[in-house]
Amino acid sequence: MNKQSAPSDVEVVWHHATVTRQRREQLNGHKAAVVWFTGLSGAGKSTLAHAVEEELHRAGCRTFVLDGDNVRHGLCSDLTFSIEDRHENIRRVGEMAKLFVEAGVIALTAFISPLRADRERVRRLLGDADFIEIYAQCPLAVCESRDVKGMYQKARAGVIKEFTGISSPYEEPVQPDLVVKTGEETLDESVKKVMALLRQRAVITA
Ligand code: ADX
Repeated sequence: MNKQSAPSDVEVVWHHATVTRQRREQLNGHKAAVVWFTGLSGAGKSTLAHAVEEELHRAGCRTFVLDGDNVRHGLCSDLTFSIEDRHENIRRVGEMAKLFVEAGVIALTAFISPLRADRERVRRLLGDADFIEIYAQCPLAVCESRDVKGMYQKARAGVIKEFTGISSPYEEPVQPDLVVKTGEETLDESVKKVMALLRQRAVITA
């Protein structure tokens, strides 16, 4: 792991591990990476992340899903859905995902992560090789008609403020590593595409 900069007003010395990421990857028999799903609420990011995790786990890979709803119950429970707090949410998740990579794990993240600049910041933090951005593309109308959590209805009624796609922006990825059309294709089809990409990127072997 590269030495990181610490705030200038505190004395923090970077401690180097002897058990390195490389050694962990060797032990695991696969590479570590972050599979970053982005898309509207209700697009199916979590469902897809867990389904891919299931496949990887069965194949003997070390995995973990970081999910927006769950992380906002703990690490990010102090954050709202303002633009500033969404920046901070994704910054923290990016740093956390980086730790998972150092731990040799394939981390699958399911956050709306609506802002391009925030996703690009995570890409820069991790590097192109470790950051695989997958756009779970699903029309707003489809997400809204599913309304699994009843939140779109509340957002339309103004009960939930700053709701992504209704009263807060979602910026589509310009050059994601993969687009899965979760409003059209089956879960199985989407999982197969993600698995194929992970093989192509040599995260896992054929
Ligand atoms: S993000 O924009 O900061 O990336 P995150 O993925 O952590 O969002 O959380 C999104 C989840 O929080 C949604 O799936 C939904 O269940 C819930 N949620 C509650 N309020 C909002 C809101 N105003 N906008 C979007 N999602 C919300």
